[in-house]
Amino acid sequence: MLKLSGNELSVISKFVRDLSGIVLDTSKSYLVESRLGPLAEEYNCKNYSELYFKARQDPSKRIANRIVDAITTNETFFFRDNSPFELLRHKVIPDTIDRIMDSPRASFPTMKIWSAACSTGQEVYSVAIILKELLGDDIKRWRIQLVGTDISDAAIAQASYGRYNKTEISRGLRPDQLKKYFEEHENYTKVSDEIRYLANFRRLNLLEPFGFMGKFDIILCRNVAIYFDMEDRKSLFDRLADQLNPRGALLIGATESLFGVSDRYERKSYMNSVFYELKD
Ligand SMILES: C[S@@+](CC[C@H](N)C(=O)[O-])C[C@H]1O[C@@H](n2cnc3c(N)ncnc32)[C@H](O)[C@@H]1O
Repeated sequence: MLKLSGNELSVISKFVRDLSGIVLDTSKSYLVESRLGPLAEEYNCKNYSELYFKARQDPSKRIANRIVDAITTNETFFFRDNSPFELLRHKVIPDTIDRIMDSPRASFPTMKIWSAACSTGQEVYSVAIILKELLGDDIKRWRIQLVGTDISDAAIAQASYGRYNKTEISRGLRPDQLKKYFEEHENYTKVSDEIRYLANFRRLNLLEPFGFMGKFDIILCRNVAIYFDMEDRKSLFDRLADQLNPRGALLIGATESLFGVSDRYERKSYMNSVFYELKD
């Protein structure tokens, strides 16, 4: 494996930070080596500086995207942490349905949900399963806009295919959900079409403007801002507030808090879980 010098670590760390907001822990040079070493070899680079210069000079940004892909932690699984999904099932989505049905939107009910930093899609399909279980056949009357975005091309590609290997499929799903909402193939398991069609995916960097995404009833932004510095975290959650409909809900990761980060939300707790509602 190629060795990383101290100077290369700071150059790569700044590059990754500028591209994605991810702050690399400089004590973990072995992590950068293990993740970028194979990429450096693939591009025939003698060292990490050469990889960096190649990435900077590549107008297609392909190498830069591969670097971000390699550095990002895509860890996720179906119904991760469970309680936020119970909260969605028993409180946030039913309240959203009631609010929409009591509004002028009732004649053509549309619900918009965004999973920002959705990784390989398990979070999105967990929400889709809950929507299907809650709405049943009534789901046909609804226009569901369930969008998953992530900076990683590879993660978004997998999410779009909705294909999972044995390990991925064994994490978080109940046997009855697996049977009902997935199809087994020889080398992979695939989300069934009725669930797949509820979701859309696209690449999106949360550091860049995302006003074009429009307004949402619910946003999940979980386990990504932990990698950002405070300035980017504050900017992210303030900008996400601009994308929420009145009384819209934001769900963040189990270890995260918006205390001292954004005052645009009211912290609400229900069934041992926390969500954030957009303030009036
Ligand atoms: C640990 S995963 C979280 C996935 C899912 N939300 C969950 O909680 O299970 C973090 C994801 O954030 C994505 N990510 C990192 N920086 C990002 C950025 N600037 N914009 C969008 N996504 C980013 C990574 O590619 C990765 O898929």
